Amino acid sequence: MSDVKISGLHKHFGAVHVLKGIDLEIPTGEFTVLVGPSGCGKSTLLRTIAGLEEVEQGEITISGQRMNDVRPRDRNIAMVFQNYALYPYLNVFENIAFGLRARKMPESEIKERVTSAAEMLGITGLLERFPRQLSGGQRQRVAIGRAIVRKAQLFLFDEPLSNLDAQLRDEMRGEIKKLHQTIDVTMIYVTHDQIEAMTLADRIVLMREGRIEQVGAPLDLYERPATHFVAGFLGSPKINFVHGEVLISGSEQVLRLVDGETISLPAIASTWPKNIILGIRPQYLGLASESRSPDDVRFSRIIDLIQPTGSRTYITVKLGGRDLVAEIESTSRGNVGDVLDLSFNRLNALFFDPATGRAL
Ligand SMILES: Nc1ncnc2c1ncn2[C@@H]1O[C@H](COP(=O)(O)OP(=O)(O)OP(=O)(O)O)[C@@H](O)[C@H]1O
Ligand SMILES: [Mg+2]
Repeated sequence: MSDVKISGLHKHFGAVHVLKGIDLEIPTGEFTVLVGPSGCGKSTLLRTIAGLEEVEQGEITISGQRMNDVRPRDRNIAMVFQNYALYPYLNVFENIAFGLRARKMPESEIKERVTSAAEMLGITGLLERFPRQLSGGQRQRVAIGRAIVRKAQLFLFDEPLSNLDAQLRDEMRGEIKKLHQTIDVTMIYVTHDQIEAMTLADRIVLMREGRIEQVGAPLDLYERPATHFVAGFLGSPKINFVHGEVLISGSEQVLRLVDGETISLPAIASTWPKNIILGIRPQYLGLASESRSPDDVRFSRIIDLIQPTGSRTYITVKLGGRDLVAEIESTSRGNVGDVLDLSFNRLNALFFDPATGRAL
């Protein structure tokens, strides 16, 4: 097992500045997920850790050893890619054993490692089959098996599940998490899927345009996003953002929305900018109840859209000229066109400075 330290890492591809000063410490044994929109530099960062891309400026150390000039094969890293090319003319056993044979490992040791990896992945019955005789999920397990038998100190995954259908992806996600608990190695996992990031990670590293936007435990990022960008990236259905202007007259503080409507907002700090963005997650926006807490913010709106999912129902209304989604219990849904009394607790709302994007 090993820890990874990255400091001051920069990388250009031609004129494009892809990594713009990455500083990151990954503790031993942790499951870290690099997440961010397409093109933000996740794969480049992962490939640089693996040694497949050169460090242009900055330093990478693994277990305290400087890696900048160490060849990929000498870094003791196992990597699983999205396109897990298996050898079509080798059976599953030989596909998993391939890297070990290349290293001239004794036959008995190869057999033991392949057998034990296959058991761990539940593919013992498939060892004689060829890749074309496997389902997508089974192929992905073989690719992971190839990484496990290496007994590497560090596992890197680059979107390993994105070729699978949704159900299989859920299943494999659980298996990868279990695998991490079983073999207890440091893992770095790249995805642009925020659900995958939330469910897998001990710690999420959220990237944006070549920089790290925020690092933290999944629920920390979800509940206390440092920026508007982080709040918008994590969560499904997405957080609702409402732009408005803070008006303070005497003890009354209200947020005037773009369409001129106002909602009362207790406890706005006087140091806040005049214009703010209110962020409220659908789960915290619900039907107004009889009992009323002083932190409640209430408003009535016409239902525009109803989307049942089974366990919960998503209701869309308009607020400040924008769609606002509330997640409510399926049993309490109304009809399109009905007026609904909605409320949220101010303490569950997030506030952002539109000028900087920072949380207030
Ligand atoms: N070999 C290359 N040559 C030139 N540009 C590259 C190269 N590899 C990546 N890039 C560019 O660097 C940027 C970051 O790419 P990268 O593959 O790291 O993104 P990513 O975050 O993994 O995105 P995705 O989620 O789509 O896989 C992109 O703008 C990409 O076009
Ligand atoms: Mg990528």
